[in-house]
Amino acid sequence: MSTVNLPSGYILIEGYPAVEDYMHLRRASGLTPVNAQQAGAAVSGAWYGCYVAEAALPTRPVAMGRIIGDGGWYFIIADMAVLPEHQRRGLGDAILKALMERIRTHAAKGDAYVTLFADIPGRRLYEKNGFKEAMPREMGMDIVLKDVGTSGE
Ligand SMILES: CC(C)(COP(=O)(O)OP(=O)(O)OC[C@H]1O[C@@H](n2cnc3c(N)ncnc32)[C@H](O)[C@@H]1OP(=O)(O)O)[C@@H](O)C(=O)NCCC(=O)NCCS
Repeated sequence: MSTVNLPSGYILIEGYPAVEDYMHLRRASGLTPVNAQQAGAAVSGAWYGCYVAEAALPTRPVAMGRIIGDGGWYFIIADMAVLPEHQRRGLGDAILKALMERIRTHAAKGDAYVTLFADIPGRRLYEKNGFKEAMPREMGMDIVLKDVGTSGE
């Protein structure tokens, strides 16, 4: 793990929160809630992830982030979430730095293209870590496909 500065009392753990914890982190931090099937795929389908817990309670994640990527050159930062009572203590910054460090040390040799969609609460954090608005060079676009997929049964 990289040399990431965490406030005292917290530990940084490589990997992903359990499905229930992932769902709670998203809901409690104000991100769009997802169902258990979506959460299961999310926590098993990323390129890299890490989370923060209190040292005294290491099985209960209070913050997380992950990277969806191909390991070659294309990486998307996703699920940056810190429980409200643990925000503004540097946890989001520590997680983002750990994610970026992982790309620096484990991506294929060459330039890495790292993108994210920044909700308002995260914008300053991303800017401080070197992200720049892509417009007008490029315009981020998205679409939500309503009610896709099957229950998997
Ligand atoms: C966005 C988010 C992940 C940031 O996490 P965080 O842990 O609060 O972020 P940090 O503490 O590292 O930095 C946030 C601010 O706290 C400040 N800060 C850091 N340590 C601090 C401390 N000990 N005391 C006071 N402020 C502190 C930082 O300087 C920063 O200030 P600024 O934004 O005014 O420049 C978190 O607020 C969150 O989960 N928000 C809701 C979900 C969300 O919108 N996620 C982003 C999706 S794109």
